Amino acid sequence: MNNLALFLNRSTFGDPINSGNTLSEQEANVLLDEWVKNEKLKVHMKQVAHLMRAFSESKSFGKEIGHKWYLAGLLHDADWDQWPGQHCKKIIAELEDRNLDPDIIRAIASHGPRYFGVEPVTEMDKMLYAFDEISGFVHAYSLMRPEGYVGMEVKGVKKRLKDKTFAAQVSREDINDACERAGISLDYLIQFVIDNQPAANLG
Ligand SMILES: [Fe+2]
Ligand SMILES: [Fe+2]
Repeated sequence: MNNLALFLNRSTFGDPINSGNTLSEQEANVLLDEWVKNEKLKVHMKQVAHLMRAFSESKSFGKEIGHKWYLAGLLHDADWDQWPGQHCKKIIAELEDRNLDPDIIRAIASHGPRYFGVEPVTEMDKMLYAFDEISGFVHAYSLMRPEGYVGMEVKGVKKRLKDKTFAAQVSREDINDACERAGISLDYLIQFVIDNQPAANLG
């Protein structure tokens, strides 16, 4: 969700002194409930959050880092519902006011380099950018399949990606760019989402 966004014209976010400061899952959800009335958007953010944590776990980064990855996913579009013209300036300002860990704020700021003008640098930045568009795309595909995610294959998702009329708002260019930057293949990214995203829809 980036198309109305403005360049942030900044390259540093948060304060290193706040390193390690996070919100609890509950605190983050209170913020989401206040800011986001659109349930579909909330589902999107929960799915991306789940994927981010699962990816961090797959790399054995540990619980604390996994939680930071989770929060970056959960909050990355928090201001889109009510302030699309200020996306993602508003959530960044809010998290800076709350003295949040700069890694989380940076990842949010760089989740759309073409839109916000901030380059993804860390692995967390790059994976948030990568999961953002593909997550919604795979979800849209699951909704049109009678079996949902069951039996879904990478080749089925790729076939839909080639069909420019399906989920037309999803930028294929951004997905490919994100894979390249993250140093992962499109197949790997899609398979990861197929394997991990269904669990995000349970809770
Ligand atoms: Fe966004
Ligand atoms: Fe998003």
